[in-house]
Amino acid sequence: MTTMLGPGSGRARPERVARPGPHPIGSPARGHREQRRRPGPVVPVMFDGNRPAWLVLGYQELHHVLNNPEIFTSDPRHRSRQVSVSPDWAPLPGVGRRQSLLRTDGDEHQRRYQAIDDVLGEVDVFLLRARAETVTDSVIDKFAGLGAADLIGAFAHQVPALVLASLCGPDDDPEVDQIADDLVDLVDLVEPGADAADGHHGLVEQLRVLLDDRLDEPGDDIISHLVEHPAEITDDEIVEDLAVVLGFGMRTVAGWIGNSLRLLLTDGSFALELSGGRRSVMQAITRVLWEDTPMQVVAGRWATRDVQLGGQRIRAGDMVALGVAAANSDPRVGAGRSPGPAGSCPAAAAAGGANTHTAAGAAATGSGGSTAAAAGANSAHLSFGHGTHRCPFPAQEIAEVITRTAVEVLLDRLPNVQLAVPADALVWRRTAWNRALTALPVRFSPV
Ligand code: HEM
Repeated sequence: MTTMLGPGSGRARPERVARPGPHPIGSPARGHREQRRRPGPVVPVMFDGNRPAWLVLGYQELHHVLNNPEIFTSDPRHRSRQVSVSPDWAPLPGVGRRQSLLRTDGDEHQRRYQAIDDVLGEVDVFLLRARAETVTDSVIDKFAGLGAADLIGAFAHQVPALVLASLCGPDDDPEVDQIADDLVDLVDLVEPGADAADGHHGLVEQLRVLLDDRLDEPGDDIISHLVEHPAEITDDEIVEDLAVVLGFGMRTVAGWIGNSLRLLLTDGSFALELSGGRRSVMQAITRVLWEDTPMQVVAGRWATRDVQLGGQRIRAGDMVALGVAAANSDPRVGAGRSPGPAGSCPAAAAAGGANTHTAAGAAATGSGGSTAAAAGANSAHLSFGHGTHRCPFPAQEIAEVITRTAVEVLLDRLPNVQLAVPADALVWRRTAWNRALTALPVRFSPV
């Protein structure tokens, strides 16, 4: 289950909070949400009805949490015994199982993060773009003659699964094909009631099969490169960390593609003519990271000691969830209003350019920083996280290449694509973690 009840208000300890209001975070009632009183920067919430946590909504507070892993650790062994959050709880394996790099800190994390960073950094972006184009074309071919499609199920879920799987080996390898199928299954498992732990299990098992193959016969793929990496990553670590790379990448990129297409198809300020198409695409995908970021809440920090945060007293062992989407729109720092030029996208950061677009390029504000100072310094969203666990820069670039290519090729192939239902009939998935549509029905001239 990934249902999350809405935040309560006031200063109660999380376990004393009564069942909060009826709107789950991430519900489609965005306009209504803005009309309601904005909650404080850190609020007690109840996940799945019985898992108390603190949800960090303020930009400065979130920045502070991410900057201080020794106080807010990613290692669930620090959780309080009273808090029944097991490592098998759906949102945790959904983003990385027990022993993945997501759930480690310190030197061990640094060793594994560096290996992933290096291996993803070796991905040739030009080849990746070419691969993404080929994949996108083949996916579109399946529905281009029909004149109608659901761009979530038939497109946004298919393209990243096939492109990310191809990082694991040649696309004519049936084992690689199976990875793509597992990724599509995984992204379908974010609805309440679905067992994300089971979904993750299939991916992990398939990665084990592929790892065995690569140990026998290495190739030019991320699995073989991890095996050969000087950090001497163990087989179990390779499997767990690759499950994070692929699982995380899949959910986020699928959401990024879907939310960008929604924006382009529903916002009149984006012209879809071929002439202006590419610039519009860059603007749209950048704006989505501010306004409809695909991972709106990230699970999993635990306080290592009693600490004050955003006016709340967090006790050692309490769980802290990262409200990325809320922080991006925090009015106290003026965030979320400027999508920025195309050149400030993740690719620029990955290329080592000045990056004012992600938190990596923002001045640290900490919880003690003044609002004015933060407002002056900040032009960065937190969609890719920040600090030691931030989304590796090569991963950000891979995400951007897949998303941009998918959207551009779709608009090139189906220039008169348009929504087949009124914009307000589109339905968001009922989950606190991801912001993603259930479907995006469109029509177009068959080609
Ligand atoms: C729109 C696309 C993406 C978004 C919004 C995104 C967001 C994030 C965020 C917020 C984190 C930090 C999690 C935390 O602090 O606990 C993260 C970590 C990570 N991301 Fe991404 N991500 C995206 C795409 C990708 C892709 C495509 C890959 C792989 C190819 C990837 C690989 C990773 C990995 C391995 C980590 C874990 C780092 C760690 O725990 O040390 N991400 N991502």
